[in-house]
Amino acid sequence: MLHTIATATEKDSVIKFKKDVLDGLQSSPKELQPKYFYDDLGTELFREIMKLPEYYLTDCELDIFRHKTQELSKLITQDNDRFDLIELGAGDGFKSRHLLDYLVHNNSNFTYIPIDISKSALTYLTESLNAQLPRLNIQGFQGDYMEMLPKACKGTNRRKVVLFLGANIGNMEVSQAGEFCRKVQSILYPKDRLLIGFDLKKDPKKVLAAYNDQSGITSKFNLNLLERINRELGANFLMDQFEHYPVYDPITGACRSYLVSLKQQQVYIGESQVNFQKNEVIQMEISQKYDLNGIRDLAATTGFKTLGMIMDSNEWFVDAIWEKMG
Ligand SMILES: C[S@@+](CC[C@H](N)C(=O)[O-])C[C@H]1O[C@@H](n2cnc3c(N)ncnc32)[C@H](O)[C@@H]1O
Repeated sequence: MLHTIATATEKDSVIKFKKDVLDGLQSSPKELQPKYFYDDLGTELFREIMKLPEYYLTDCELDIFRHKTQELSKLITQDNDRFDLIELGAGDGFKSRHLLDYLVHNNSNFTYIPIDISKSALTYLTESLNAQLPRLNIQGFQGDYMEMLPKACKGTNRRKVVLFLGANIGNMEVSQAGEFCRKVQSILYPKDRLLIGFDLKKDPKKVLAAYNDQSGITSKFNLNLLERINRELGANFLMDQFEHYPVYDPITGACRSYLVSLKQQQVYIGESQVNFQKNEVIQMEISQKYDLNGIRDLAATTGFKTLGMIMDSNEWFVDAIWEKMG
């Protein structure tokens, strides 16, 4: 059942979007924040990316959520207590619904609280879950998950379990991932848990191909953010003057996607002018790959105890389950 959807006002969102875009494009190197990929079209394109043969990440985590559901459930539940299952950036819940299904059918006493910046993703998620699992108690929050998490936690004294799937943590630099974990830790209480999906270092060709698919959907997904800026902020980016360019560094584990300006050009965002040199890049997204020791260190240095690490059958991806230290 869907109770409420809390929404940031649309006007505030546009003002913030414009400020973030201008700050990013006036910095050096230029960058855009990946959370803005997900307007309606971006959400749709990301669903297509998840089905691409090159994009192994979804299949790996799906393998865990489908085939190791009982292990996951054991690591997040505790003595049949009532808890809140909060999912950050839930998307279409493609993987988490396997866990939700298991929990509902095993009579776990919990409320599912998905948080997503995309209204269309949240609407699709709640409607499809209502149909699939009518007994599931859902309370969705629309907005940035770091703004919404304290609101979602407020007002109940139930234990919290926070899900952060899809290697979304990889969209942060390693130092930012540390800050993120510390921030979540400060919002939670001792014994609350955090389940994070990490993509692991592997064959560099395999990694790079996931961000450079042959059908060009990832390129469309990146360019859609420029189109979104045109649509929502009155800008005049020309799509054929920018090209998608991903690179992977197997030593640091950082896979970065750029849009390269194919010529010297000026772009207007409303009244503000942004200049591009030929071959200047906009950093669009980092997708950081980890190793198991790095993940254990991240837990230990941000105030969490590792309860378990569950890997897919290829050992390409891991869901780590942590508990806040008291
Ligand atoms: C890569 S998808 C992953 C979806 C899902 N977690 C999964 O693993 O399949 C990222 C989702 O997070 C949402 N998202 C991205 N940045 C966000 C933010 N800062 N706050 C809230 N939602 C965000 C997007 O709208 C999108 O639905």
